[in-house]
Amino acid sequence: MKIIETKKLSKVYTHDFIDVEHGRIKFNFFRRTVALDGLDLEVGEGEIFGLLGPNGAGKSTTIKILMGIIFPTSGTARIMERPLGDKEVKAKIGFLPENPAFYDYLKGEEFLDYYGQLYGMPRSVRRKRIDELFELVGLPDHAPNLPLKGYSKGMIQRIGLAQALLNDPKLVVLDEPQSGLDPLGRKEIRDIILRLKDQGKTVFFSSHILSDAELICDRVAIVNRGRLVAMGELSHLLSPKIKEYELVASGLSRESLDVLEKHARKFIERERDVLMILEKEELVKEALRRIVAENASLVSLTPRRETLEEYFIREVARTNAPREEVRA
Ligand SMILES: Nc1ncnc2c1ncn2[C@@H]1O[C@H](COP(=O)(O)OP(=O)(O)OP(=O)(O)O)[C@@H](O)[C@H]1O
Ligand SMILES: [Mg+2]
Repeated sequence: MKIIETKKLSKVYTHDFIDVEHGRIKFNFFRRTVALDGLDLEVGEGEIFGLLGPNGAGKSTTIKILMGIIFPTSGTARIMERPLGDKEVKAKIGFLPENPAFYDYLKGEEFLDYYGQLYGMPRSVRRKRIDELFELVGLPDHAPNLPLKGYSKGMIQRIGLAQALLNDPKLVVLDEPQSGLDPLGRKEIRDIILRLKDQGKTVFFSSHILSDAELICDRVAIVNRGRLVAMGELSHLLSPKIKEYELVASGLSRESLDVLEKHARKFIERERDVLMILEKEELVKEALRRIVAENASLVSLTPRRETLEEYFIREVARTNAPREEVRA
């Protein structure tokens, strides 16, 4: 089953009404921002799907449309093969918004209990579930009794995640779940997401922290300026080709070092060994031949593939085109 599907989804924000005087004539202009421009997405059941893109790419706009907070200008979207807004489907979704602003004066436990009531969960079920969630998201022992205004950014993010998981959702939608978290916190969120997948849930999240996405996503979509740049399995997107080799050796003769240095992309002679980055397999073979012939030592040989970070920078640079426009 397709859990999420969007077809030619577009969103144009109309804002700022500007008056421009040209001689004696006055013009009125709307500034329009094309936030989404014909976005096609497909998310399958049980996937961890990363919606990736730089700031302003349209990630939150996509998520807000899917959650029914705003409406698309054109195009369609379906969740669990039903049109947006379907109540039965909504009950199966958990959602963490970007930079959530929750009720400051509610204590952690009261806050989750309130949301549990909105879901119609009976009191006994709420109690048990809330205890489990405090544990799961790694909030400290004093968190249930602390008003949210005393929560740090990382704690807010965690209780926001707890709120999103309260109803044991089939689909978990998280807008920048790792924002505001330190490296350890980011790892904990990754682990929680992986655990949700193990439970058969679908996780759809946005991020610009590519290394986090790279570690957990089954598939990703890369968006830039409201357009899909690429979508698919990471292993397919990233060029499977080996980009270069890092070779560390010691005990090579001066003559060999001089020959290899000429062809290496990077060549660093260190006290005990030499590190070289070689781009061609032929050169690696040549280096290995010399190591064997001279009875030198191979310390390490590491093939390097393209990372998601490199792919992202390359693709986003390729698709950068002006987006803002002013229309009468
Ligand atoms: N309410 C709004 N009114 C006008 N323009 C908006 C509005 N919301 C978003 N935009 C614009 O739409 C574009 C996409 O914004 P969006 O928030 O979807 O990006 P994003 O990918 O979530 O970025 P970020 O990584 O910074 O969260 C941006 O140019 C933004 O300025
Ligand atoms: Mg955003």
